[in-house]
Amino acid sequence: MIEAREIDFHTLSAIFKLNVRADQKYLVAPNSVTIAQCHYEPAGWLRGLWSGDTPVGLIAMINPLIESPSFEEGDRLDAAYIWRLMIAEEHQAKGYGAEAIAIAVKQARAWGLPNIYLSVVPEEGSAIEFYEAQGFAKTGIMHDQEVEMLRPLLD
Ligand SMILES: CC(C)(COP(=O)(O)OP(=O)(O)OC[C@H]1O[C@@H](n2cnc3c(N)ncnc32)[C@H](O)[C@@H]1OP(=O)(O)O)[C@@H](O)C(=O)NCCC(=O)NCCS
Repeated sequence: MIEAREIDFHTLSAIFKLNVRADQKYLVAPNSVTIAQCHYEPAGWLRGLWSGDTPVGLIAMINPLIESPSFEEGDRLDAAYIWRLMIAEEHQAKGYGAEAIAIAVKQARAWGLPNIYLSVVPEEGSAIEFYEAQGFAKTGIMHDQEVEMLRPLLD
């Protein structure tokens, strides 16, 4: 069972050090970049993912109900956005990614939003099938070169 915890002075370097596999690096930004960007994103929600005392990953989300300079015309106001998700190489395939989605869904509901969405690089090894298994479906919309996927949050 993993937990999402705020990153602080004491845990920052442990989360910095987490990496995906070398062949997955084009799928997600390094954690150092996500942490820096989130510092300047008023709508950002950033957490380290922990299994007990072991850091296993990172998740960053955007709350569309908070005003942000990052928002663009046409952005969804009815859906929480999973901005970044990574499970470190040595902790993948243990069910932690699925648990992270459950955490994200809980957060989206806490914000009172009826949907959750994200965009995925549609390349070899991408997480599209992972997200489909988690109840997301392609919307047909592209963001730059990325495929948008959305999951309604039914009660
Ligand atoms: C995608 C990612 C978050 C999944 O986390 P994970 O902890 O490895 O996934 P889980 O162990 O919870 O897997 C849940 C299910 O999805 C499947 N799955 C996981 N990654 C998959 C992938 N890339 N493609 C297809 N299926 C995948 C697992 O086999 C498992 O299936 P099962 O329930 O039938 O056994 C993780 O592999 C990762 O960080 N990848 C690199 C970065 C990335 O792509 N991030 C997403 C950016 S949009």
